Amino acid sequence: MAVQTSEDTPRDAALEHLDADLGSRRLIVVTGKGGVGKTLVAAVLGRRLAAAGRRTLLLEVDRRENLHQLLAVPPSGGEVVAVEEGLYLQHLKPSRVVDWVVEKKIKLRPLIKRVQNSPVYQRFVEGAPGLTELAIVGHALRMVRGDFPKTPKIDTVILDAPATGHGLSLLRAPQLVAEAIGSGPFFDLAQEVAVFVENPTETGVVIVTLAEEMPVQEAIELRQGLEEQSAHRPQLLVVNGLYPPAPEGRAGGELEDLWRHRRKINERELERLEANWSGARVHLPLLAMDEGRQLVQALSEVFADGLEMDGSEHQAMEDGR
Ligand SMILES: Nc1ncnc2c1ncn2[C@@H]1O[C@H](COP(=O)(O)OP(=O)(O)OP(=O)(O)O)[C@@H](O)[C@H]1O
Ligand SMILES: [Mg+2]
Repeated sequence: MAVQTSEDTPRDAALEHLDADLGSRRLIVVTGKGGVGKTLVAAVLGRRLAAAGRRTLLLEVDRRENLHQLLAVPPSGGEVVAVEEGLYLQHLKPSRVVDWVVEKKIKLRPLIKRVQNSPVYQRFVEGAPGLTELAIVGHALRMVRGDFPKTPKIDTVILDAPATGHGLSLLRAPQLVAEAIGSGPFFDLAQEVAVFVENPTETGVVIVTLAEEMPVQEAIELRQGLEEQSAHRPQLLVVNGLYPPAPEGRAGGELEDLWRHRRKINERELERLEANWSGARVHLPLLAMDEGRQLVQALSEVFADGLEMDGSEHQAMEDGR
């Protein structure tokens, strides 16, 4: 994506606004219901930001580790891997990031190992509410702050948030942990991370959905939850996997009926979003392609055309532009 001037078409201006809006964040949390295309959208957004000059890290904490396959690079194994100019990815095991929290607070190496290997610790890590989320966001903060001397400088971390329901808890957990602890060094850490993640100018939210009843419902509820429980409002809604319009008025057999049926559901849900969603929205088609770099490339190419003008204009107006 080249740098554009706002004298171009209204779409170019809206796109420029959206890219600037996303690019100004230091953390972008990509969330939504399971299987809707969050990982794919994270990759597409990562490429956009990198192309616009933001040094961007795609951070994946899903145990299945599939971002590298999507981008055709070697698996991260915890390391930062270069994908293309300005774009990196890193896969982290959530337990590994929690270990960091402990390491930061316990300075004696032998003691760290003893703590980490103890069954009490293992149970604590798995069971303590909010600890994993705190550790993940804490890692993102350290990356953009440049706490790791050997890794490239990162401007924005795009977090491919783990499964459903975690989007909101990621944003709220650090504060809840801080409140639960009350004081001490862990409190300071949780508080620092909470300030970062709760500040909407530092941390942005992108919601991904399919135009189907349950994912749309979840996206709307997630947005309501965000607005009620935090200062965040999503910067972008990506409506992914849209069926193309089916040919009308001919008897096309079962497959065409199925196609028409799926498309009708899409249209119904798009109308529901139209009525219930304000803010930038991008529609992405369902493509007959296997998961992989080609699919990321193809979706990147149609991203601009998928920007819904009403939503983005509304957003621009609300933002006073
Ligand atoms: N627009 C699309 N066109 C074609 N295939 C798609 C599209 N969007 C997603 N897919 C495919 O759907 C599957 C799910 O996508 P993805 O893994 O990005 O979803 P997810 O939300 O990250 O899932 P999970 O919640 O399991 O992490 C993948 O196989 C992906 O390649
Ligand atoms: Mg995923």
